[in-house]
Amino acid sequence: LFPATAGINKHLLPVWDRPMLFHPLVSLILSGVKEVLLITNPADRPAMERVVGDGSQWGLKVDYALQEQPLGLAHGLILAKDYLQGSPCVMALGDNIFHGHGLPDLLKEAGSQEEGSTVLAVITDRPHEFGVVKLDGSGQPIEIVEKPQHAINPWAVTGLYFFDGRAPEIASRLKPSERGELEISGLNQSYLEDGSLRVIPLHSPIHWWDVGSAASSQRIAPLSL
Ligand code: G1P
Repeated sequence: LFPATAGINKHLLPVWDRPMLFHPLVSLILSGVKEVLLITNPADRPAMERVVGDGSQWGLKVDYALQEQPLGLAHGLILAKDYLQGSPCVMALGDNIFHGHGLPDLLKEAGSQEEGSTVLAVITDRPHEFGVVKLDGSGQPIEIVEKPQHAINPWAVTGLYFFDGRAPEIASRLKPSERGELEISGLNQSYLEDGSLRVIPLHSPIHWWDVGSAASSQRIAPLSL
């Protein structure tokens, strides 16, 4: 997305008719979330706050936290520990968009589970770009791997995660990956090993896009809403 992102955080660039980040906020609202902790880097916080504000325009209460270094998605949950105070949460990545008939019911159901972790998975032909979950013959998860070079399975784990109140504590036990991040796939692998990871497969007409790169954004089909 460079050079546009030299001047503006990518999550504030428009996708369809609104800033990219508004799409995951809608996913959170549909999941039943009313209180949002928006985690941003220090430089982009003022712009984020100008665009999102306190969330009251959508009936939300939005607070802000700073991630000083890009230490990973699971690190964001550690930052949110005091905010969450042991409550379950939904974590939405700012560049993930979900759309399609049936989505509100699906997210409401996913958000109603208070134990374990729930992820939404989509068949992909680009497993090396995502966290990937390997499923057995009955659809039960066997393993989660972050950006595997060799595909173990075509199910990509999307960027909307439903966690019980243990997530910050489990995240704080993770070791950094080779790229120096606490990986969200590592966190979900811990839930999997605990027997408490649920995988919901997404099928048409529900669609998912990670629009975090120009290449992936070009794959967005035009929608008439
Ligand atoms: C992140 C996660 C990955 C997930 C993806 C979904 O990847 O690490 O597990 O599948 O979001 O969009 P990133 O976009 O940071 O490369």
